[in-house]
Amino acid sequence: MNKPSGLSKNIVLVGFMGCGKSTVGRDLFQLLGYPLVDMDSTIERNTGMSIPEIFEKSGENAFRDMETELLQQLAEDTRARKIISTGGGVIMREENRRLLRELGYVVWLDAPVAVIWDRTKRTKNRPLLQTEDPKVRIQTLLDSRLPMYEEVAHLRLDTSGLNSRELATGILESARYYFTSQKS
Ligand code: S3P
Repeated sequence: MNKPSGLSKNIVLVGFMGCGKSTVGRDLFQLLGYPLVDMDSTIERNTGMSIPEIFEKSGENAFRDMETELLQQLAEDTRARKIISTGGGVIMREENRRLLRELGYVVWLDAPVAVIWDRTKRTKNRPLLQTEDPKVRIQTLLDSRLPMYEEVAHLRLDTSGLNSRELATGILESARYYFTSQKS
């Protein structure tokens, strides 16, 4: 379906690791039926490697290049509206922030450090948190990234008190409002 107004009407989820982007993305998919693009999973599929393997074999910078390339492809693909779930560090490059805004309505899923820590401490699939003191790492990374999430987001939501269905319903309402109030 071509965009009638020339606007990009995708819903884009950004936010730190453990803030529920993939889960909320799946709920939005169930509510809306738009195709769901999970960027981490897409990169894993395209490379045939897991995220930790990519970081280990090719380095973080190569992974960041893959993120930028995928965002460029998504921005070029105007056939259908999509739900796009990003990796937590995608906002670090200025080019990516520009592409994210171009893609559509950007929702920042946020949570306090203690909640992020609680949600991520049992998993081993996040290379940036495989340090001696992951909690300090979370705080440091979050502090440096906050201004970038702020810059890119149309909407910020604290995910700590709501389940993913509630979050998805709220996002849908505000996205509808945003898209209908946009002028081409
Ligand atoms: C990263 C977040 C991860 C993944 C990679 C790097 C980051 O995605 O892209 O491990 O820099 O914050 P999630 O936010 O889905 O965990």
